[in-house]
Amino acid sequence: MSLKPNSLEELWMPFTANKHFKQEPRLFVEAKGVYLKNHRGEQLIDGCSGLYCIPGGHGRKEIADAVAKQIMELDFSPPFQFGHPLQFEVARRVAAMAPGDLDYVFFANSGSEAVDSAMKIALQYHRAKGQPQRVRFVCREKAYHGVNFGGTSLSGLVKNRETFGPLLAGISHMRHTRPPEHKFVMGQAETGADLADDLQRQVDLYGADTIAAVFIEPIAGSVGILPPPKGYLQRIREICDRHGILMVFDEVITGFGRLGENFAADAFGVIPDLMTLAKAITNGVVPMGAVVAREHVYKAISDAGPAKGIEFFHGYTWSGNPVACAASLAALDIYEKEGLFERAKKMIPYFLEQIASLKEFGIVTDTRGIGLLGAVDFEPVDGKPGVRGYEILQDLFNNGLLARITYDTLILAPQFICEQTHIDEMFDKTRSAIKRSMNRPQLRAVS
Ligand SMILES: Cc1ncc(COP(=O)(O)O)c(C=O)c1O
Repeated sequence: MSLKPNSLEELWMPFTANKHFKQEPRLFVEAKGVYLKNHRGEQLIDGCSGLYCIPGGHGRKEIADAVAKQIMELDFSPPFQFGHPLQFEVARRVAAMAPGDLDYVFFANSGSEAVDSAMKIALQYHRAKGQPQRVRFVCREKAYHGVNFGGTSLSGLVKNRETFGPLLAGISHMRHTRPPEHKFVMGQAETGADLADDLQRQVDLYGADTIAAVFIEPIAGSVGILPPPKGYLQRIREICDRHGILMVFDEVITGFGRLGENFAADAFGVIPDLMTLAKAITNGVVPMGAVVAREHVYKAISDAGPAKGIEFFHGYTWSGNPVACAASLAALDIYEKEGLFERAKKMIPYFLEQIASLKEFGIVTDTRGIGLLGAVDFEPVDGKPGVRGYEILQDLFNNGLLARITYDTLILAPQFICEQTHIDEMFDKTRSAIKRSMNRPQLRAVS
């Protein structure tokens, strides 16, 4: 890409240290396969599938061709009261991939929109079932469910919440699933299933018939990969069943092969009532989100609606947009034809071994991982959270690795097309960056 911006000033960047970025910019200008190129022409290996969204690799011609063709054939189709063939086909494909009777797909444009859509579906479901008083939601500390007001209210991250007032009423949080005794446990911990009993406590406190749904990331992702203890999700499912509470899996990160199965629901053998998706649904190329609903949820809402009237007063201008659908079909074809989820599955043990091996460094205070998702916590410098992490982020950008850093946690989520040599390259660069961080006598304060 030849364009060089004349000014960095006017852009207000999301979740970014804007002032500092503009002093020391980090721009990407090209990407192909497992590699990106920065504005200085240096190559970086993509250790985070973009932002957990490009498992099939950058610059896929099949997707580019499908998108270009679709723009010339039908670039936009009004989504309310009209349809177009591709959205039915994506819905059919996603429903076929999803376990059990998760068979009905509602489209949005992002994970955040999918989460808010799922909240509304849950509320309308209970109204349709004659229980309009079920308006509460239960979720978890350390959860990330996007940034719209619904998802922000569900989220369990103080920085994402504290500025924005009281948020939605009627939302309460269970504990997260990484107690201190799980330090350095890789995969699912043997203990901790009883953390699911926090849901029963919510039932005992608020009354089961006030609770609409519980929102769970099967693996808490953005905060730094917290796998569920063995039996935890099954226990949440049992409590939901006992009390008529809908179970929602937020699979925005875990959906489409991250654990070597279609969805985390498959990997853990637990079928939620609703599942939210985004990111890899188009191989990250065009924004798209979705909620997948079980038959009883869809049928309850559609049966309660009028014969010729709208059943669900919700949707977006770009719900099921034809261009996004073309990208999605091409991405799903790539996953299937290249057996990418199988390929991911084969790479998982080696990847997790590498994550676990980082324990050898004195500044590493925890390692976690499951599927092709791994995280390492670093000791904060001088008790200031985030300073070391930000240093490492910059260091990695300058030394050829794109990783996700949140505070002092480094997250790796490789693409499924990676060969072992790519994984080795990521870990060589990670190890070198950790060594440099340990040897840096004074980390520059950034806050
Ligand atoms: C579990 C989960 N839910 C929702 C979202 C929000 O997705 P988006 O950024 O597409 O709005 C994310 C984003 O990372 C996520 O990880």
